Amino acid sequence: MSVSRNRVAVLHGVNFDVLDRRNPEIYGGLSLSELEHKISDWAHELDLEPIFFQTNAEGEFCEYLHRAADGLADSLIVNAGAWTHYSRAIADALELTRLPAVEVHLSDVEARDDWRKLSVFDGLVAAKISGRGPDGYREALEVLATKLDVTP
Ligand code: DQA
Repeated sequence: MSVSRNRVAVLHGVNFDVLDRRNPEIYGGLSLSELEHKISDWAHELDLEPIFFQTNAEGEFCEYLHRAADGLADSLIVNAGAWTHYSRAIADALELTRLPAVEVHLSDVEARDDWRKLSVFDGLVAAKISGRGPDGYREALEVLATKLDVTP
């Protein structure tokens, strides 16, 4: 009997609950639920099962990663928002999951403020995709489908 390993936990960090109220020139004006609908459609096309999570509390983000490591998910897409640039706690929590993970940013973090160039996830993720808008999530799903060996 084959065991399916196709669950992708998609974690959105701080300020993603108000995505549609953030600068549309940078973030595209989409609401979080519109973004999640797109991700969901793309995931299903690839035979992946998305699970969504968003919080504005750093500790809750860490606790969700602990649960992911305890069997909630097979892989991760992480957009931790501003925490990306300074939360060693989240980096430690990501590391202990030992799950394949892709870091995504809607905006091009390399082309913005200097402090956004640093990512605490360096060396912990299979890929970092930034500046591709929502399509970055599709690319992340493709990377994970390959890693999980899921074929639609
Ligand atoms: C972001 C980029 C971060 O620098 C910023 O703090 C965010 C969103 C992005 O998706 O472009 O909150 O992660």
